[in-house]
This record gives sequence, structure tokens and C-alpha cells, in this order.
Amino acid sequence: MTPHELWTRFRSHYCSVPSLGLSLDISRIAFEESFFEQMEPKLKAAYAAMDALEAGQIANPSEQRMVGHYWLRAPELAPKPELSQEITMTIDAARQFAADVHAGTVAPAEGARFTRVLSIGIGGSALGPLFVSQALGDPDTDKMQLHFIDNTDPEGIDLALRSLGEGLKETLVLVLSKSGGTPETRNGMLLVADAFRRAGLEFTKHAVAITMPGSKLDKQAESEGWLRRFPMYDWVGGRTSETSAVGLIPGFLQGIDMDAVLAGARECDAVTRRHQTRHNPAALMALMWYKASDGRGAKDLVVLPYKDRLLLFSRYLQQLIMESLGKQLDLQGNRVDQGLAVYGNKGSTDQHAYVQQLRDGVNNFFVTFIRVLESGGEWLLVEADITAGDYLHGFLLGTRSALHENNRQSMTITVLRVDGRTVGALIALFERAVGLYASLIGINAYDQPGVEAGKKAAATVLTLQKRVAGALGVQPQTAEEIARSLGEVQETEMIFLILEHLAANGDANSSNDVDPGIRTFVAA
Ligand code: PA5
Repeated sequence: MTPHELWTRFRSHYCSVPSLGLSLDISRIAFEESFFEQMEPKLKAAYAAMDALEAGQIANPSEQRMVGHYWLRAPELAPKPELSQEITMTIDAARQFAADVHAGTVAPAEGARFTRVLSIGIGGSALGPLFVSQALGDPDTDKMQLHFIDNTDPEGIDLALRSLGEGLKETLVLVLSKSGGTPETRNGMLLVADAFRRAGLEFTKHAVAITMPGSKLDKQAESEGWLRRFPMYDWVGGRTSETSAVGLIPGFLQGIDMDAVLAGARECDAVTRRHQTRHNPAALMALMWYKASDGRGAKDLVVLPYKDRLLLFSRYLQQLIMESLGKQLDLQGNRVDQGLAVYGNKGSTDQHAYVQQLRDGVNNFFVTFIRVLESGGEWLLVEADITAGDYLHGFLLGTRSALHENNRQSMTITVLRVDGRTVGALIALFERAVGLYASLIGINAYDQPGVEAGKKAAATVLTLQKRVAGALGVQPQTAEEIARSLGEVQETEMIFLILEHLAANGDANSSNDVDPGIRTFVAA
């Protein structure tokens, strides 16, 4: 294409949404003009499915659930008045709770004030709060320091606790779990509660549960008299819960303007609810994903925000997109093995890492650049008439051109600045794009059978571990011998791996043989 043709294509496919301060350029995805027309029937069906979802139909058939994250920022659109009321009450309660904590009217039993927040949760109960905390936090204005535990790694938990140190007595602990039964979160909570006990502090007077009413966690929090309980709803999925209590409570506590996040998401929803595709950036994104990845995840989506504050956006999107779209079966139960792989960190940092391969290596991806117009920070000139921010912008445009010259596709989302409204809008934009794209490819974006399968598999391993530990004695035994004695010959490899773990953690002793077949183990 000549530069003039490129410019013409850019102009005719530039979707600008002034009310959001956001625009989307899709001109560097290789679609033909007829593509929109070809996709019209599928897109019409996707809009209809989205309208039905917003109206409260069961949009998550495998779990028989409504899907209501859009109502969280427009409670009046919820299909029943009780739901609208509940959403509004939760937003108000979250805002008020944070104000009370900041004012010291909600304070630790041991006196003084809560100055830190330790958030324990995983997946959708962690990634949104982590992303928003980093995107919008500011050490000068934050009202509280946020710390996160999002794994069952005892060393990671220990590090988080040590970073709190003496501050533990001023720490408010949030335990976030929609189901209230996720083992990683439960383990984090138990280790943290133990640290409180060892420090002579009463954990329950520092603890807040954010979970579905009636869940195991909710019942525990109620019976132990925790400081507060906030509801999560059956009809909000973990990965779309940032505008529920899951995101609001940590955000308000940190001092982030979560009302602006809600407003940005609400405004973006209003725009992306429209059926006028050329003016709907979420629909355009969904179409471009379809085009670039052949509607079957044939290419990966690389998310490249040129802004440090947006570093965790790609990680957040990795879950939102891959957990939603990575499905074996379509809505009719046919095997489809769908998905869209997502990775990325930030520019220009990544230009000194994997962008080399993007430019010159295997062409198995398309990029979404996120361009932030206002540079922020210091305006110091680093050379004649040029600031560090000019460099950042120059690197983005340069990389976009360099990729295009080598036939690599990209699209670009431009926002004015990273503030609450923009972050809310970006979250809502991708949530809607995921929902529309899921309809284009005919899958349920709102369940996660793979995650459930992983949980079950881990439980099986732990049951086996207990039996293996019980089978150890003073007589050295190989993995095969133990497997035979347990009647689990088909699990010999798993048993060897468990034995290695037990030996490394002082629960077994082992010989030094390198061959797994002859290595022997005894009880410690
Ligand atoms: O998005 C999802 O549904 C998952 O990633 C969940 O958030 C994750 O498994 C944690 O579940 P829960 O919030 O029930 O502890």
C-alpha cells in the first residue's frame, strides 16, 4: 500500500469516541472491505445474544447463571429491582466502609488505625484489584498501602507478611473468594491468621470477607464474628468482577477514585452496547480478533501498552480473555478447541526483549498497542526539543510502522491519560469485546470447566500424598514398591514426584540414586 492508501484506510477505519476520550485504529489489521458485510449475520446474532444477556437471560448455560457485570455500573439496568437495590447498597457500603476505615471509626481492636490492606484472593479475585492498584495508585495520595497474596506458595506468603512486619497490627485483611472454597485463598488466610496469632493479634477483628452469601467463607466469617462481610453475586464471574465489591473495596481503601472507574465503565458500556458497528470499538475489536486469528486463535494477541502504569493490564487481560475464550466445546457441545492466547508487558521495555521476534521472527501474532497521549511526569528535555515522553511515543509509532513494514498486523487503542475513567472504560471495552467475540465463535465465555478440573486434579494428588506418606517406613522402598503396595501401579510416576517433594521438605529421607527407578525412600 502507498502511504496515501494507508492514510485513507486509517481515516476510514478510525473509530473515535470523544465521550470516552478513546479511539481505536484497526487499519493495520489485514481485512478487506467486504469483511464487515460477510460478518454481518454473525455479528447480528452476537448483538442479539448480548442484548439478551443484559436483559437477564441465562447467558452462562453450563452453570445456569445470568451474567450481570454490566449492571454493576448501571444498577438501574438490572432485570429485577431487588438486584438494582443490592448493587447500589453494596457500592454505598464499600465507599462508606473505606471512609470509616480512613477516619479511624473502624479501627484495629488493639487501637490506632488501619494503615495497610492485605488482599488474599486468586484469579478473578486478585487480578483486577492488582491491576487497578498499580494503574491508579500514587504513593503521595494513597490512603492505605495495598499488599497482595494470590497463591498458596508459603514462601511468597512469608515474604508478603515480612513486608508488613510490625505493620501487621495496622493491617486490614481482605479475603476475596466468590465461591468461598478456593484452596489457595483458604491456605493464604490460614497462614495469615496464624501470623496474627503469633503476633498476639486477633485476626477476626482485622478480617473482612468478600464472598457469596452462604459460602463456606461467609459462614466462617459470620460464626467467627469477622469485622465485615460484603457480598459477591452468583451472576458475576470472577474475571469480570472488578466493578463489584471485589474491586471496589480494595480500591476505595487505597484511596482510588472508584466512582470514576465505575463511571468510565458505565460510559463505555453505553457506547459498546450500540449495534452501529463502525462506532462500537468493542465490536470492531471482536471482529479484528476474528479476522486476525481466523476465528480459531490461529494468532496470539500481544498487548503492548506504552505506559508503566498499565504493566499489569496484559496480565489482567490474559485471564479475562483466555479463561473466557479457551474452551474445548462450543455451545452445541461440538469439539472446537477455541482460544486466543494473550501475552505482553509494556513498551518500550519489551522492545528490548521479545519485540525482536515480533518484528523479524515467526509471524504468529497481532498486536494491540495502547497509546496514552499525555506523557505526564517531568517535562525535562533529554535532547533538543525532545522529552522522555516524546521518546516513548516515538518508540510506539516506530514499532507500529516497523511491524507493518514486515507484514505484522496491529491495532491501536488511544486514550488521553491513565485515570479512573480511562481504566474503567478499558476494562469495560475488553469485557464487551470478549462477550461479542465469544458469540462470533459460538462458545460460552462465562464458565471455566478447565479451572474446576485443575482444582479436582490437585485434590486427587493431595489424597494420594497422604497415602504415600502413610506407606513410608524404616525399610527403604522405591516408588514402584510403594505404588504396588498401595495398589496404584498406574500412578508410579506421580508417586515418585510426591516422594521427591516429601524428601525435599523433611517428610521423607531418600537415597542419592539418580535413576528414579532405584531411588529409595524411608520415613523421616
Ligand atoms: O474468573 C474466575 O472465575 C476464576 O479465575 C476465579 O476468580 C478463581 O478461580 C478464584 O475463584 P474464587 O473467587 O471463587 O475464589
